[in-house]
Amino acid sequence: MNNIIIEGGHRLSGSVHISGAKNAVLPLIAAALLPEGVSEIEETPWLTDVCYMCDVLNYLGAHTQYADGILQINPASLTDCTAPFEEVQKMRASFLVMGPLLAKLGEAKIPLPGGCAIGARPIDLHLKGFEAMGAQITIGERYIEAKVNNLHGARIYLDFPSVGATENIMMAATLAEGLTTIENAAKEPEIVDLANFLGAMGAKIKGAGTDTIRIVGVRALHPARHTTIPDRIEAGSFMLMAAITGSELFLENVITSHLQPIIAKLNDAGVRIIDEIDGLRVLPSGRILPVEIKTLPYPGFPTDMQAQFMAFLALAAGNSTIRETVFENRFMHVAELQKMGADISVNGHTAIIRGVPKLQGAYVEATDLRAGAAMIVAALAAEGETVIGQVDHIYRGYENIVGKLVEVGAKIREEQSAE
Ligand code: EPZ
Repeated sequence: MNNIIIEGGHRLSGSVHISGAKNAVLPLIAAALLPEGVSEIEETPWLTDVCYMCDVLNYLGAHTQYADGILQINPASLTDCTAPFEEVQKMRASFLVMGPLLAKLGEAKIPLPGGCAIGARPIDLHLKGFEAMGAQITIGERYIEAKVNNLHGARIYLDFPSVGATENIMMAATLAEGLTTIENAAKEPEIVDLANFLGAMGAKIKGAGTDTIRIVGVRALHPARHTTIPDRIEAGSFMLMAAITGSELFLENVITSHLQPIIAKLNDAGVRIIDEIDGLRVLPSGRILPVEIKTLPYPGFPTDMQAQFMAFLALAAGNSTIRETVFENRFMHVAELQKMGADISVNGHTAIIRGVPKLQGAYVEATDLRAGAAMIVAALAAEGETVIGQVDHIYRGYENIVGKLVEVGAKIREEQSAE
């Protein structure tokens, strides 16, 4: 893996274009298996995770083609219902093909998606939904198999508003017989984006974005063309990069309403943000004020912004607390931030961040995607040079992150790692 090198202490300026959302486009790609015909997804970010998802679809017999931000997906030759072991192990979101395969082929054989650095990440809620819809589930050593003759609608209550389970069940329900009701559904903007894409294909879906989603199955879906919503987590990450360096930065291609929980916390921390017609402007901020953060399902503060915000609060004028309620092990970035001089202590799911006057550049690692983004936030403000290792994690979710930061004045470069 390569390293990213950052020389801290430089202001950013100008504007940055926010890419399409990783966590929207991955389910959109899976959904493109459902119709008869070629669908197109615009503003598809060219990310490692998008490549992995396309590999899974190609392995299943579908064809994908990417050019100038547009991904074409042709499911016509979808024949295989067994997802490839390596790809699913690399990216758990591959599990999102299960719903479409069950709906289209009546069977699916998916490798057990591994946990990852941030937690065990079970799939019990996905399986609960598919069983309620009539699927027989067999859990083997390495694979999960699901078979069904006629997928039928069901009333499904999610014990936790799981994003992936809501998406997987919603996709399966579009071609099931009758009405499916998902209660305690996830309300993230990415759920609404998926529902809009499925609706454009002729699916009958109501309530996406609320905690109850109703889907009436149809006999077949037709292809559609869809534009991915902007990535609210990339936008939030860039807002923190501007705020921690005291910079003015303009973000284009954002949907402000998706960013409310992040903007609210940035305002509490003393960061001024202007909602302009064609984007958001972060104004140069002075002292960083300490805040209390608790991660929650949308519309609460997003867990995917927790690591980046912790890096920012390391330089606050006072003590902050962050409580992580969504994942059980999402503090891997604490040890890396401590290497840079951050004063953080962790007690269970709560971190106490005692602000320090400055951070020092160091050799740190991107332990996972968002921890890697946190290292960039910290490194941009640290004194001296920071070397970030394991950067492939970062490229999973941030399109052209080095190029975008160079464009706005950061002293950042990538180099081959010695190993
Ligand atoms: C999605 O993951 C996102 N990934 C994650 O983003 C995000 O952190 C997460 O939602 C929460 O917002 C994609 O959309 C590709 P969940 P997902 O199912 O669907 C438990 C990033 O950094 N759970 O809402 O896997 C689970 O253990 C990534 O971009 C069950 O118990 O998240 C976790 O504690 C990281 N049983 C909680 O729910 C299940 O069947 C949230 O998981 C499913 C989930």
